[in-house]
Amino acid sequence: MTSRRKFMAMSAAAVAGTLLAGGSASADDELEFPYNVAFTKKHQGHWEGKAGSHVPEIEVTDTEIIITTPHPMSESHYIVRHTLVDSKGNPIGAHTFAPTDKYAVSRYPRPSKGKKFYATSFCNLHDLWVEKFKI
Ligand SMILES: [Fe+2]
Repeated sequence: MTSRRKFMAMSAAAVAGTLLAGGSASADDELEFPYNVAFTKKHQGHWEGKAGSHVPEIEVTDTEIIITTPHPMSESHYIVRHTLVDSKGNPIGAHTFAPTDKYAVSRYPRPSKGKKFYATSFCNLHDLWVEKFKI
């Protein structure tokens, strides 16, 4: 792993961990953090219009949680990392991608505990995106 990729992967995990572990829910149950730190469908900040290819998509089966980011993968522009965190900030899993990976898809065993989770997807050009979901 190059130092730049390592830095980005570590940054995404650190931001996600800080936001999710220390964050709190507001009245409308949205994450609270400054705009342009992490992005959601609702809060796209300075990346307005990029949600469609950056917000992680979630599929839950009887045994797995599958995270997919519908984003092109190339040497110059790709998804660096996915993380899965529960509502208390506990990491469930993470996957670091290479720019040569064909798709940004990661799979995790379905947790036996917890109902609310957060998936993150970090793009090397368009920063950190978060999707909250319940199972
Ligand atoms: Fe991107």
